[in-house]
Amino acid sequence: MDIDIILSQVEEEIKNINSPEGLEQFRLKYLGRKGVVAQLTSTIPTLPNQEKAVFGQKVNALKGKILSLLKEKQGAVVSGKGVSQEPYVDIGMPGIAQEIGHLHPLTQITEEICSIFNRIGFSIVEGPEIETEQNNFTGLNIPLEHPSREAFDTFYLKDYPKMLLRSHTSPVQVRAMKTHKPPLAIVVPGKVYRPDAVDASHSFMFHQVEGFMVDKGIQFSDLKGILELFARTIFNSDIKMRFRPHFFPFTEPSAEVDISCIICKGKGCSVCGRKGWLEILGAGMIHPNVFKHVGIDSGKYTGFAFGMGVERIAMLKYGINDIRLFFENDVRFLRQF
Ligand code: PHE
Repeated sequence: MDIDIILSQVEEEIKNINSPEGLEQFRLKYLGRKGVVAQLTSTIPTLPNQEKAVFGQKVNALKGKILSLLKEKQGAVVSGKGVSQEPYVDIGMPGIAQEIGHLHPLTQITEEICSIFNRIGFSIVEGPEIETEQNNFTGLNIPLEHPSREAFDTFYLKDYPKMLLRSHTSPVQVRAMKTHKPPLAIVVPGKVYRPDAVDASHSFMFHQVEGFMVDKGIQFSDLKGILELFARTIFNSDIKMRFRPHFFPFTEPSAEVDISCIICKGKGCSVCGRKGWLEILGAGMIHPNVFKHVGIDSGKYTGFAFGMGVERIAMLKYGINDIRLFFENDVRFLRQF
């Protein structure tokens, strides 16, 4: 058999192949166990000695050529380029879908909290995260000697001694009451900052929602009713609530508000520290000194205010036991909400 004839036959044949099956048949025909190359190889021992080497080399070259033709053709067949070698675009192929993100759980909870109050007539207002000492402390009746004013309890700005990162959202009470006259019903979502060491329940930055209402004849019972409505809506309808006497310089009387533990329903468990109650916010009736500072007549108007931690509410609602999870940006955590 003339190897050159075989080679031209091989080149002619492979041109007409345009499917993986055809290619496999071709491969078996030439390189299979009983294929052409194997047959040629098997004749070598029968040749005269002086021809063996030359013939062997020719068979090897043929095999190499077939292999490289196969490889080339395989690429074309698999990529769908077929015989024509035209660039091939499969317009029926599905596109690459963009992964769609969603709102961060804290944003979702903030929106949920605000919308509950919004539905009963509260406006949503925001304030700056960099505040004056005046709005964050003085205007809220927080005296100079109050511990929260200490440098280690507040982030002061280095080059602006009277400016700081707000330590709560309450300064927006001052801002709103300075510019707007009662009646007022406002909720304020936003970030607050305290130089706390980070652990499972503390972060140097967290979120609050402040709320306040000012008008003639606003009473503590209004505060109770509205907060109860809030807690039942965001958690569930059979939640109990209790007001514990507390102290805030900007409210009088003041209270810390607890809800019955949503895990054990008040029986006592590890989440509520066996107490059956969970603290969710601080509240009270706006102090007359706060009204005085913004020029509202406390003989004519009264009001309540409250402030809650958004992380706290989210952790209780979803049973999350570490505040750091919110800020690590681990999508395996965030995807669950
Ligand atoms: N500003 C208080 C705090 O951050 C919460 C609060 C707001 C308490 C309004 C009473 C009234 O702890």
